Amino acid sequence: MTPDVRPLVAGNWKMNGTRECLTEIKAMAEGVQGALSEKVETLICPPATLIYVATALATDSPLQIGGQDCHQKASGAHTGDISAEMIADCFGTYVIVGHSERRTDHGETDHIVRDKAAAAHDAGLTAIVCIGETADQRDAYETLDVLKRQIFGSLPPGATAENTVIAYEPVWAIGTGLTPTATDIAVAHSFMRAELVEFFGDEGRRMRILYGGSVKPANAAELMAIDNVDGALIGGASLKAKDFLAIYGVYEGLTA
Ligand code: 13P
Repeated sequence: MTPDVRPLVAGNWKMNGTRECLTEIKAMAEGVQGALSEKVETLICPPATLIYVATALATDSPLQIGGQDCHQKASGAHTGDISAEMIADCFGTYVIVGHSERRTDHGETDHIVRDKAAAAHDAGLTAIVCIGETADQRDAYETLDVLKRQIFGSLPPGATAENTVIAYEPVWAIGTGLTPTATDIAVAHSFMRAELVEFFGDEGRRMRILYGGSVKPANAAELMAIDNVDGALIGGASLKAKDFLAIYGVYEGLTA
């Protein structure tokens, strides 16, 4: 955790979820009520088809709803894409950009990711910018170089602690059940913190850096306690309210 920074527990549903899964959103919206929600922010990014109805379900809850991607343009001839403005129009407040699955499946470069983050800012959304090394890059001891390159390539100049969150997701840890050691995460996060401070000054000191990749109820307390880990970006374990709320719940102990 970073002193004086409000952690964010965020779920990325990826290409999972039909209307019947809205019962999970409802349970999450109810489950995050209470004193802990003043100390810890929560967010679910369902598929685009569910954003509007999910925000309606969470109206009276601190649970926020966001998108998983947006186009870099505000509108136009881009079949199948959605804009940041459209997410904001559905009352979404966040959007994930540059997830490694987007970078791999859709050939998104740092440059594209930076433009998407800027589009999110223009629409009044907070961008969660994902970065992380592949297994090959890790094995070649390139992790910190990759993180540095992705931070500077993917963050627009207008990034602030309010409109931008970094999510460090080692590609090899996503959906595999594998996580880096606590020491490796601490090294990566403190490196990113130093880079953010160098580039953005005081904003970089307060910018949240999430960890993502096989976060589960069983390992969340250990991972979230690491210095400069300001929350989680959760895939599989965010699909069920029980697991998501259990991960959120570890902050009862961490913020006591
Ligand atoms: P898992 O938690 O399923 O490993 O996914 C992580 C992720 O990619 C979140 O964006």
